[in-house]
Amino acid sequence: MTGLFITLEGPEGAGKSTNREYLAGHLRAVGIDVVLTREPGGTPLAERIRELLLAPSDERMNADTELLLVFAARAQHLAEVIRPALARGAIVLCDRFTDATYAYQGGGRGLSQERIATLEAFVQGQLRPDLTLVFDLPVEVGLARASARGRLDRFEQEGRAFFEAVRTAYLKRAEAHPARYRLVDAALPLAEVQRSLDALLPEIQGLYRG
Ligand code: TMP
Repeated sequence: MTGLFITLEGPEGAGKSTNREYLAGHLRAVGIDVVLTREPGGTPLAERIRELLLAPSDERMNADTELLLVFAARAQHLAEVIRPALARGAIVLCDRFTDATYAYQGGGRGLSQERIATLEAFVQGQLRPDLTLVFDLPVEVGLARASARGRLDRFEQEGRAFFEAVRTAYLKRAEAHPARYRLVDAALPLAEVQRSLDALLPEIQGLYRG
């Protein structure tokens, strides 16, 4: 049996973690083995790479260094957590994955799609998410929510133009591949966002049963 790989994407402050818990609760309630994880991170070593990526620093991080660190963490996460969980038939709910690389390193930093696609093929082989939920939110709303949470990490310190480019990149990907992406309006009140997730649950269970 192979599991199901679902990723949650969107800007900071879009409620991905809360909604990931919500989905997991419903799927577990019907007896499904659910693995919750996140990127960058998801294993002790990958979490150390995450710290390198998120810590503000006086030395500017080169965009290729950033890209390689993101994929180094991903290689570890895939080997230790994601592939074993899928192999035993679990649903993996992952907070961010390679769409974030296309959005942040591609859209935000301006790295080429080809460069990212080369590493995607190298690290993932054929593996792609089965379903990707994009939590979409106007940039100023996401930034306000992130800064209300306290100290800003290296990405959160970026300006509005960076986050506009991130948002545009996510929306373009969702538009180009409608079969894999579901847009969720994360600006709505939480109860309404969760109603839209309720509507997705039968689809997820259908995909899972294959
Ligand atoms: P978060 O998971 O707490 O939102 O923070 C992770 C940050 O890392 C977020 O700003 C997006 C960024 N990121 C990338 O730039 N590229 C990636 O491939 C991933 C997974 C995350």
